[in-house]
Amino acid sequence: MVVRYIDVETLKHETPMLAVGVFEGTETLAGWLEIIDRALGGAILRVLSSGDFRGKSREELVLYGPENTGLKRLLLLGLGQSDKLDSESVRRTAGRAVRVAERMRLESLSISLDAFSNIDATSIAQAAAEGAVLAGWKFRELKTDISTRTSDVTTVDILGLNNTTGLSRAVETGAKIADAANFARALQSRPGNIATPAHLAEEAERMAAQVGLDITVFDERRMLDEGMHAILAVSRGSQEEARLIVMKHNGGDEGEPPLVLVGKGLTFDAGGISLKPPKGMEDMKFDMSGGAAVMGAMKAIAELGVPVNVVGIVPSSENLPSGNALKPGDVIDTLAGKTVEVINTDAEGRLILADALYYGARLDPAAMVDCATLTGAVVIALGHHAAAVLGNQEDLIDELVAAGKSSGEHCWPLPLWDGYREQLDSETADLRNVGGRPAGSITAAMFLSEFVGDTPWAHLDIAGTAYGDGKLPYQRKGAYGFPTRMLIHWVRSRAG
Ligand code: BES
Ligand code: MN
Ligand code: ZN
Repeated sequence: MVVRYIDVETLKHETPMLAVGVFEGTETLAGWLEIIDRALGGAILRVLSSGDFRGKSREELVLYGPENTGLKRLLLLGLGQSDKLDSESVRRTAGRAVRVAERMRLESLSISLDAFSNIDATSIAQAAAEGAVLAGWKFRELKTDISTRTSDVTTVDILGLNNTTGLSRAVETGAKIADAANFARALQSRPGNIATPAHLAEEAERMAAQVGLDITVFDERRMLDEGMHAILAVSRGSQEEARLIVMKHNGGDEGEPPLVLVGKGLTFDAGGISLKPPKGMEDMKFDMSGGAAVMGAMKAIAELGVPVNVVGIVPSSENLPSGNALKPGDVIDTLAGKTVEVINTDAEGRLILADALYYGARLDPAAMVDCATLTGAVVIALGHHAAAVLGNQEDLIDELVAAGKSSGEHCWPLPLWDGYREQLDSETADLRNVGGRPAGSITAAMFLSEFVGDTPWAHLDIAGTAYGDGKLPYQRKGAYGFPTRMLIHWVRSRAG
């Protein structure tokens, strides 16, 4: 999809459909609505006073444009009350516009930003582009019917906000951020037999070459030389070889401490010997969502030329039962040198992350953030509305909560108090890999914290937010790309 910012406010603008937001209780018109209303002889005001369309938040109405103008259709989108508006409303409104156009089989449309003129113009224009590009994405590379692959909305023009400068730049930025999220969504959506660790590594290499990232991929041989015994232990039950993907963006000064992003890239989680029940197990192809988001974030960070050093690390393996698989009770070694008693082989994410985080901590980061579909417990704690954020530095957690707000991909803190550590005490090893039912997401993060040393670090548990039923206008059922946007917003905020 191509998204452009265009500065026009005349009926000469050619478009099959112009989408305009309308607040509840609107009585006087401005901007595009006023221009069109006049040309239509007051039709919009008559619609509003009729009560057929009140501007409530789910209402939509299509009118047909004045004769002999470039405007074919006018789409009124109800916005609800004006005081509840933020950049996420803009993202959703743009998504709704694209979805209506899609249903009408239009190839292009225009979206007016008129209604949002009381929020910061740059973030509105960026959010509108994000919403449109996210809404236009669909995963259909595995469908054989070619006709369903086309007939898309291919062009979106974003209009309005009278001559504010820098808005085409903002639209471009938003489009790149959403493209990166869509890249992550495609990786997430691919099933385990396609998206293997080797596949993720190849895709990372291809993407890196395209956007200009340095990249190194460790195979199992190399991981053994390094001493990454935890990743290797998880991978042992699988025929697919594990990989550790390391991507580098050198946007800052040489020697400047990098920001490190780590993402769980578990391409299929059957649970291992501690086998999961069959119901819903197919969703465990999404257990690489954190890795996909880190790959997506690195892509946009490179494309946007963010002036800071960033390293993206994705440990990737499968978790399957077999005659060679890791067993409950086994004690394994880790890159950090700590020994771990594996009580439950289904708590594998924290094992592969242990090695990846320790590797990341050795890069002396200014800050390190990991994201992982780590625990079912986080869904009980926060549902599908926010990821949990836990870490060892309050400022970093605050930054991530803020990046959640600005990106629309929210996270919310859980405590990481010392008292939880004893749930990981082991009779035979330095620690065990599960802490029992109480506070499952916290003890998982507690486990990770053992491998980051003094590095300022935060962990995002995205098991409830990485994929789902697709409730928002710019989502679809399946992969969300979460938290690609949050990570990019955070890294950009760090770059000042
Ligand atoms: N990948 C799962 C977590 C998960 C659960 C992701 C539901 C998405 C939806 C993780 O590897 C796992 O199995 N965690 C266990 C940990 C337990 C054994 C301590 C869990 O949450 O049940
Ligand atoms: Mn598991
Ligand atoms: Zn898992």
